[in-house]
Amino acid sequence: MLNYVIINIGDNMDIKNRIKELTDIINKASMEYYVNDNPSITDQEYDDYYRELLNLEEKYPEYKLKDSPTNKVGGMVVDRFEKVTHKTPMLSFDDIFNEDEIRAFDERIRKTCPNATYTLEPKMDGLSGSLIYEKGVLIRAATRGDGIVGEDITHNVKTIKSVPLKLNKEIDIEVRGEIYMSKKSFEKCNEERKRNNEPLFANPRNAAAGSVRQLDSKIAAKRGLDYMAYFIPNPGEYGIKTQDESIKFLKELGFLTNHKLNGLAKNVDEIISYVASLSEKRKSLPYEIDGVVLKVNSLEDEEKLGFTQRVPRWGIAYKFPAEEVLTKLKEIKFTVGRTGKITPNAIFDPVHVAGSVVSKATLHNEDYCIDKDIRVGDIISIRKAGDVIPEVVEVKKERRTGNEKPFKMIDTCPMCGSVLVKEDANYFCKNPHCPARKIEALIHFASRDTMNIEGLGERIIEDFYNMKFIKDIADIYRLDNHKEDLMELEGFGQKSINNLLASIENSKSNSLEKVLFALGIRHVGKKTAKILAKRYKTIDNLIKASEKELTNINDIGEIIAKSIKEYFSSEDNIKLINELKVLGLNFNYESTSVNDSLDGMTFVLTGTLQKYKREELTKILEDKGAKVTSSVTKKTTAVIAGDKPGSKLEKAHKLGIMVYNEDDIDRIIK
Ligand code: IVH
Repeated sequence: MLNYVIINIGDNMDIKNRIKELTDIINKASMEYYVNDNPSITDQEYDDYYRELLNLEEKYPEYKLKDSPTNKVGGMVVDRFEKVTHKTPMLSFDDIFNEDEIRAFDERIRKTCPNATYTLEPKMDGLSGSLIYEKGVLIRAATRGDGIVGEDITHNVKTIKSVPLKLNKEIDIEVRGEIYMSKKSFEKCNEERKRNNEPLFANPRNAAAGSVRQLDSKIAAKRGLDYMAYFIPNPGEYGIKTQDESIKFLKELGFLTNHKLNGLAKNVDEIISYVASLSEKRKSLPYEIDGVVLKVNSLEDEEKLGFTQRVPRWGIAYKFPAEEVLTKLKEIKFTVGRTGKITPNAIFDPVHVAGSVVSKATLHNEDYCIDKDIRVGDIISIRKAGDVIPEVVEVKKERRTGNEKPFKMIDTCPMCGSVLVKEDANYFCKNPHCPARKIEALIHFASRDTMNIEGLGERIIEDFYNMKFIKDIADIYRLDNHKEDLMELEGFGQKSINNLLASIENSKSNSLEKVLFALGIRHVGKKTAKILAKRYKTIDNLIKASEKELTNINDIGEIIAKSIKEYFSSEDNIKLINELKVLGLNFNYESTSVNDSLDGMTFVLTGTLQKYKREELTKILEDKGAKVTSSVTKKTTAVIAGDKPGSKLEKAHKLGIMVYNEDDIDRIIK
């Protein structure tokens, strides 16, 4: 128990001392509560000390200490995130997914370190954060960023209860760990967002990442984030010899660590049984984990193993298989996309999977449904592909009752009733005036990746379409004619309308690739739009291009070329483009990239290079806009040959493709 008494304040020296004393009492009590899970004073005592400190700090701000617990309520607002270069690159491990890969990892390690042992740690599902302490005081916190340069998030991290503002030792140290949100805080946070009609976070990881990327630290302070420390980049400086000792040291400094759940393994079988037992515990943990991090324990072994180009060799991240849950298929609903494509969707009883509630998943097309023999009423298992998009994994046929309704493809458009046309595996509504197609096309046109018109989201587009303010793309740019009508709509004020109109106006100056993608030409996605814009510079040049000429471009095959020609041969589409030109839209390519000098070129590397590592040269070329592929075709710009080149060189000669050596490529790069 802490035993401090409230003293009488006399002169300024007493005040300074009392502020220091209260700061220490509260920090110690917080640590015992949040980190050691072992409260040392009552809530009432805590509140009294806290209020006293707050009062004194308000009256005598000059005495407020850097590690004052009152910082934790937030309040600091930054106007942007400063960049921070990490002293030691902030790497992550390679991922592995099954037992065979665990065994292969162990074998690899034992080739260099036959007697290696491992620490096994829950893989926290949050975002990694680097904390810098000087003389024991937290001075900076940063995100990982690209591993070399991260963002300064000190103002937000200072509000995290389990982050000590001052360590138990007055040392300079960098600590790495995971910023995460507990399951409980996540639920609370989403409940509040629901009450405020704000979009819900999909999972605790997104919620944590969203919270640390706030400019106003009051928001992060409210969200109940936590920090689990798991790594010291330069442990030798503190006399530490193993990863296990690093964790102990971090705990002594005052950090929350996973020492109770972490394990040690002498051999691969012990790793596998740890993985199985942690996987059992996973659901009952108060936070999300997505796997097990395996680290070679001895730092001497760690040094022997070193790094590859990208990742440390001394550790690896085993990821649990994606979580699957069962639910009942209630309905198969058909939707119409912007190209008229019909998609069957599974609508099921809402289920909680991998951190969020889902109730629908795409069933792609007729063949997919027939292959799976999916029936309304079936029990199905759902998981999230890549942890984001829900998908139906399996139909539990053994649980059928006989009342399930077999899948039947529709033959008319669910929105306009037109007869559907089958092309390859998909059905299409070909009615250009189908309202579903029009709405989807408008949504696509305004969305973030295309024209990025803020304030023109799905719901508003649907409303404006139904109210006939926007019937086609050109109408978006005539919306100012309806300014007065808009003012009468619920939820619209002068300010939101002005913002919307300003965003529409801004979108007019987007570069050609944006508008090309936005037009919704079938098979022309973001990447193809960029290739076309860079190549043709203006829409008029593109309209004139022949199908043959288009096919000759790298990455553009016959199907895309045909679709582009088809689009521009429609009178309606040309009329739309002309209207948009009159309305002031830009149809020219405005390159923003300063570093695309090798754009459109494709290289193949062969043989042993002397000056560069392969990955290194690949990155340099890609950074300058080139593509590096593994096989030589007639679309290859040049083959870069090192020593002992193989069959690729022969093929280059056969196809008459240029061959460069490393000196040539040096000159080209420069
Ligand atoms: S150690 C060199 N330990 O998972 C990598 N990472 O690839 C040092 N993570 O991005 C990281 N729990 O954000 C380490 N106990 C743990 C971890 C952990 C979660 C994250 C980390 C990193 C990735 C590992």
